[in-house]
Amino acid sequence: MAMEFDKKFLLGAATSAHQVEGNNKNNDWWAWEQAGSRRIPSLEACRHYQLYREDFDLAKELNHNCHRLSIEWSRIEPESGKFSEPEIAHYRDVLDALKKRGIQPVVTLHHFTNPVWFMRTGGWLKPSACEYFLRFTERIVKEFAKDVKFWVTINEPNVYAYYGYLLGDWPPQEKSLLKTKIVLDHLALSHIRAYRLIHDIYKQNNLASPMVSISANLQAFEYCRPTLANKLAVYLRNKFYNLHSIERLFCRDSLDYIGVNYYGRALVDVKKFGLRHLLSDNCNENHLPLKKNSLGWDIYPLGLYKLLMQLKKYKLPVLITENGICTDNDALRWEYIQGHLRQAHRAIEDGVEVLGYIYWSLLDNFEWDKGFWPRFGLVEIDYKTLERKIRPSAFEYAKICKENYLEAE
Ligand code: GAL
Repeated sequence: MAMEFDKKFLLGAATSAHQVEGNNKNNDWWAWEQAGSRRIPSLEACRHYQLYREDFDLAKELNHNCHRLSIEWSRIEPESGKFSEPEIAHYRDVLDALKKRGIQPVVTLHHFTNPVWFMRTGGWLKPSACEYFLRFTERIVKEFAKDVKFWVTINEPNVYAYYGYLLGDWPPQEKSLLKTKIVLDHLALSHIRAYRLIHDIYKQNNLASPMVSISANLQAFEYCRPTLANKLAVYLRNKFYNLHSIERLFCRDSLDYIGVNYYGRALVDVKKFGLRHLLSDNCNENHLPLKKNSLGWDIYPLGLYKLLMQLKKYKLPVLITENGICTDNDALRWEYIQGHLRQAHRAIEDGVEVLGYIYWSLLDNFEWDKGFWPRFGLVEIDYKTLERKIRPSAFEYAKICKENYLEAE
């Protein structure tokens, strides 16, 4: 039996600037990579800044009808208030290259990295962050409104705040609950104001209304034993990690769709009582085994269905802005893609308006603090030669992209 998608269903893959372009020397990640001797530097990454045309040829060959990318703020505005015309021209070329190949762009304005000058002002901890982000947003949206319908203002606000300000694993390596809350508040406010600004720019230019959202990282929280503490932990994590950021933006009428980044399951098992344990304890035993990606994350397609059904109450369309697997087992990648597409299809049948599915990632790339070893790409990169090689799973996915349907299990 075939599971069909709508003709307009978006099917493609995603990247983000710092992870693929190379030599993003004016942002906080680059500075951080260079400062620590044990950190892996992104250096040339995939040299996508130079090779984007060839990479988009591959996306076209693979029948993708959309591509998610991010515009690197630190390239556009390397010094506060000074916009780089050559870099704006570069991204114009990038968007033109997609257009020529008939691939619709989904454009992210903030994907984890920040200009160094912005971080020197206090970054997202300061109320000024919002003004700076809006100034950049205004410039970019005025330049590219004509060619972009889908915008993602901020990628995964919860992940950015969690790793940078609570766990301290990512720059600026803070470990403070209070600072995490301040950053999350400023990110939310920046989105709400950017949402209105983007809509105003489209109106002033008589352009059809854009689709603006964030990409929210959602996890399928489940417990391994039905204890009271575990049930409470699942409830709290789902409410505060998954739904809170969506809810507050929804209440301010600032979402045209919900961007969902979903990777897998978190198996909750609270070891001791206390807030920290409720919010962070997971099960380490392998008694409810699922297949895993090479970072050890549980593969759980059903979780996508459950989360999409939870989002139904907002009566908004959903775009899966990221879903993907890092693995050295390409057959598992294909199984992963099919499994998640089937669950997305099932949610559509059950009344959720899903606009599309964007696989993470088009290319193997720089996986933040992990470096280059996790392989998420539909296209393999040989980092010695930067040669690209399409993986078999990508050719299988290409058939779905072409025919708009997949076989039921
Ligand atoms: C997301 C993030 C991406 C990518 C992916 C795989 O959280 O937006 O940049 O790294 O995870 O881990």
